[in-house]
Amino acid sequence: MSTSLPQFESVYAGEPITEGVEHVPWILGEPQPAIAELIEAGQVNGRVLDAGCGVGDTTLHLAERGYEAVGVEASPSAVEQARRKATERKSPAEFHVADITTLSGFDGQFNTVIDSTLFHSMPVESRSSYLAAIARSAAPGAVLHILVFRREAVFPADVSPNGVDEQELRDAVGAHWRVDRVSEPTIAARTPEGFASGVGQDEQGRNLFPAYLLAAHLPE
Ligand SMILES: C[S@@+](CC[C@H](N)C(=O)[O-])C[C@H]1O[C@@H](n2cnc3c(N)ncnc32)[C@H](O)[C@@H]1O
Repeated sequence: MSTSLPQFESVYAGEPITEGVEHVPWILGEPQPAIAELIEAGQVNGRVLDAGCGVGDTTLHLAERGYEAVGVEASPSAVEQARRKATERKSPAEFHVADITTLSGFDGQFNTVIDSTLFHSMPVESRSSYLAAIARSAAPGAVLHILVFRREAVFPADVSPNGVDEQELRDAVGAHWRVDRVSEPTIAARTPEGFASGVGQDEQGRNLFPAYLLAAHLPE
């Protein structure tokens, strides 16, 4: 299993993720299109945990639409940037620096948990404690949405997200949550020309990588 994940704190502090990639590819200034669609479609409700929120674009988007949105992120530099944006926009979004795999202090609080590209950004061996921790922080009946790279998404060897196949994803999540459905959207990334072959592009020139979007819930 690959674990050569980016050193997130250094990336947010300005180190290139890999040679020749100056911009942090996943910082879009807005939510992933697949997550924005979920929100538009009314699939997100109540108090929302944005797990591994990075610089907070999804959390801020939710707060601006009236959700009680809380971002949790391991990188202090990312949270500093998220809080700065929240102050500039006078947003009530809340941000916390914490390791999501041992999250505590939020037991039973969240009605929706959004994982926008966190799942493939953690070591495979952390998945179970992560899924248990967010289940603990969620209220009965809560809903979970995970947007994750499919295994066939191809990257340079030194940037290796832990993409999944569908059964692996269903099995990992199904040990802690009840899986409802899995669809196959894409993940948009601002990667430079030549970074990845065989991927499409959106109208903004962002590369579109194959992904899964899983929905699950906790029993009432
Ligand atoms: C690919 S980024 C996605 C950021 C954001 N969700 C987005 O959609 O732009 C993955 C994020 O997960 C964070 N992360 C990885 N492991 C984590 C952990 N154990 N606890 C909290 N955050 C973590 C990383 O620091 C990084 O910001």
